[in-house]
Amino acid sequence: METTANAALTFSAEQLKKVEEIIKRYPEGRHKSALLPLLHMAQDTWGWLSPAAMDYVASLLKIQPIEVYEVASFYSMYYLKPMGKYVMEFCRTGPCCLMGSENIVHYIENKLNIKDGGTTEDGMFSLKTVECLAACGYAPMMQVGENYYEHLTEEKVDALLDEWRRKG
Ligand code: FES
Repeated sequence: METTANAALTFSAEQLKKVEEIIKRYPEGRHKSALLPLLHMAQDTWGWLSPAAMDYVASLLKIQPIEVYEVASFYSMYYLKPMGKYVMEFCRTGPCCLMGSENIVHYIENKLNIKDGGTTEDGMFSLKTVECLAACGYAPMMQVGENYYEHLTEEKVDALLDEWRRKG
């Protein structure tokens, strides 16, 4: 996965086949519904959604770039700037707050010397607070990639950061 801007933005032939498959899932005239999966594909490919990547997705769907920007900027799972290898999406909604999420977020900020929305200088970690991730019963929690980390404490965060640093 790349985390820098890309000059030549095109999906591979295999990905373009997949794009066609995805678009065909939706009724005639409703091809814009394929926008979310295509944005995921673009983000998985280039690491984030640069304006060029969003324009490319717009061209594939034959829609206006602004329609893509609106959607990409609405959902927190899309990254509009380069992110670290491990993106800690920390829930900041009520139940997680009640269980101490703010303290742990501050702990991470201090430990990694970054602010919410920031990335460490070595490009390893990003921290992003997000709205409820539907695991309220396991608060406080965060999502990293496809995994949920629950009932978080400072000790658990330390262990996770150590593990990710070891893995590189
Ligand atoms: Fe944190 Fe729902 S409030 S997961």
